[in-house]
Amino acid sequence: MAAASHLFFFFLSVSLLLSSTLSAYEFRVGGPKGWTKPTGDELENYNHWATKNRFHIGDSLYFKYENDSVLVVDKNAYKECDTKAPLLKFVGGNTTFTFDRHGYFYFISGEPGNCKAGERLIIRVMVHWEVVISGDAPSPQPGHSGSSISSAAVGFATSFKNTVFVAALGSAFAISQFV
Ligand SMILES: *[C@@H]1O[C@H](CO)[C@@H](O)[C@H](O)[C@H]1NC(C)=O
Ligand SMILES: *[C@@H]1O[C@H](CO)[C@@H](O)[C@H](O)[C@H]1NC(C)=O
Repeated sequence: MAAASHLFFFFLSVSLLLSSTLSAYEFRVGGPKGWTKPTGDELENYNHWATKNRFHIGDSLYFKYENDSVLVVDKNAYKECDTKAPLLKFVGGNTTFTFDRHGYFYFISGEPGNCKAGERLIIRVMVHWEVVISGDAPSPQPGHSGSSISSAAVGFATSFKNTVFVAALGSAFAISQFV
């Protein structure tokens, strides 16, 4: 009996753990066109797009490109379109970059001239409780929770995760005592 209820809580814990992990979202940079030198007839540039979205730790960017590259650079290199000493360089053609901290991330193309033509992107990754504290109301974004309420929920789920994980370990230990 005791073992069965522990088992129940073990599965409950694991499903909570999974649901909080699954809240991470992958943003596709540039939509169907991907990461490419702007031709000038785009409706919005990469940074307009970025300001309409909310990025959190664990979310990722997907870059699709051809004959191009993705450089992660610092603020000055971003401003200068300086491709000489990137922090990171990706050339594969489809790159997934996951945010592992909050703050600013700067991306530019490594192709000569492309950055100056607008192939560059600034992303600000928010602290997960920031929306609640600042109280600003973001516009909803397709596919990703942009409202204060759901952002707060995600933040809660994230901070709750470690607790749940410890609880899951505890349950697994308890089960091993009964079996
Ligand atoms: C990439 O380069 C190859 C070889 O120069 C060319 O055939 C192809 O059209 C280029 N692709 C794009 C999207 O520019
Ligand atoms: C990456 O892009 C290449 C060329 O478009 C494609 O063949 C390959 O399947 C892609 N890989 C992934 C993991 O999406």
